[in-house]
Amino acid sequence: MLTPLSIVILAAGKGSRMKSSKAKVLHEICGREMLYFSIKAAREITDDVIVVVAHQKEAVIASMEKHFTGLTFVTQDATNFPGTGGAMMGVSPKYDDVLVLNGDMPLITQTSIQAFINNDSDIVMSVIALQDPSGYGRVIIENGKVSRIVEEKDASHDEKAVQSVNAGVYAFKHHVLQKYLPMLSNDNAQNEYYLTDIIAMAHTDDLTISPLFVHESEFKGVNSKHDLAISEMIMMDRLRKMWMDTGVIMQLPDTIYMEEGVKFEGECVIENGVRLCGNSIIVNSHIKAHSVIENSIVKNSDVGPLAHLRPLSILEDTHIGNFVEVKKSTLTGVKAGHLSYLGDATIGEGSNIGAGTITCNYDGINKYQTIIGKNVFVGSDTQLVAPVEIANNVMIAAGTTVTSGKYESDILILSRTPIRKVAGFFTKFFGKGTQC
Ligand code: UD1
Ligand code: CA
Repeated sequence: MLTPLSIVILAAGKGSRMKSSKAKVLHEICGREMLYFSIKAAREITDDVIVVVAHQKEAVIASMEKHFTGLTFVTQDATNFPGTGGAMMGVSPKYDDVLVLNGDMPLITQTSIQAFINNDSDIVMSVIALQDPSGYGRVIIENGKVSRIVEEKDASHDEKAVQSVNAGVYAFKHHVLQKYLPMLSNDNAQNEYYLTDIIAMAHTDDLTISPLFVHESEFKGVNSKHDLAISEMIMMDRLRKMWMDTGVIMQLPDTIYMEEGVKFEGECVIENGVRLCGNSIIVNSHIKAHSVIENSIVKNSDVGPLAHLRPLSILEDTHIGNFVEVKKSTLTGVKAGHLSYLGDATIGEGSNIGAGTITCNYDGINKYQTIIGKNVFVGSDTQLVAPVEIANNVMIAAGTTVTSGKYESDILILSRTPIRKVAGFFTKFFGKGTQC
């Protein structure tokens, strides 16, 4: 059930500490933009999700509209009102309870947001106790009450030593925001309007401010590439655990990379070092060590070790062995055990692809299809020069170059240069002394 709560996600900042031309909130963890995860958590709670944008706003809006509909985007006047306080100034929430989230907190969950709701305080704010508080605003607690937040860049030596930090989530009553936002000033080290300055004003006016102690594992802010890597590890651990709980076997799970869009069905075994990307679907299959699967479907099949399925491959009842690369191909009931490239191909039931088979799908300008019927035996080291179509029940001799065209059923296709034997060649070439 949805809650009458407005959630505002701040995503307008530049993120200069990321040292990247890409907007910070569009950096990915587990294959999705950071901002995707906080919006996803927010959407599980309410219909009123407002995303504040400015820096690279077209790119941010376009990326999020690929995942969600019905979001409200508000553009911050970042030139005149920079900072997290400035970001809130143009926001008109639908409900009286307003939760503000930083857009650089991908680890936030629906459950962790719920903890801020159903509280009568004027402000509930998130606090993390950290050994190393660097990078965060420090929460100053006096006489058991939160009195203010001081940003690292404005903090004195003693304030920097404070280990309780602001995690960047706040629940406000709308009237509190309406009262204090216009009173913010930018008289600070960064010349920004800090949302966090509302805390000191509310404290002076004796409003109730409840600190909610939370864990960094769900509230970590991502400011640097190192933070991004740590957040990805935490998120991936969650994903792997979730899938193992549904019955997937993962060997040495810490070595398995998998993205948010990947799904499993039935009994699957994923060996160490596997990389599973995009919206891949793995059904009742065994993916062996160090294979890479990108945006593909694998059903009742085994893949690897060291195989590579590139996007839009569909495998069913198929065996793919080591050093086989498949791209945009549909293989049904096929065996391709070793060392092959199968691109833009459709291969039918009972066909065997010998080691070293290559579909030559590209002539330097265009890509062409290879269609192989059922029960085709493709000998080792065959090149199929696409476009090529081979009917059912065909044998291709090892070493054959199958030139473009259509081949009918029940034939042998063979192209081989006749063997020449040159007697005495070895001795003549290397000299007598090299003979055994
Ligand atoms: C902010 C808090 C800090 C807290 C930390 C938690 C302030 C002033 N400081 O600091 O107390 O410990 O988060 O992670 O709020 N943003 C805008 N518009 C802007 C500037 C930022 O929308 O003009 C957005 C960013 O895109 C980002 C979020 O607000 O998603 C936080 O901004 P960031 O610059 O990362 O703030 P911190 O310095 O981390
Ligand atoms: Ca931050």
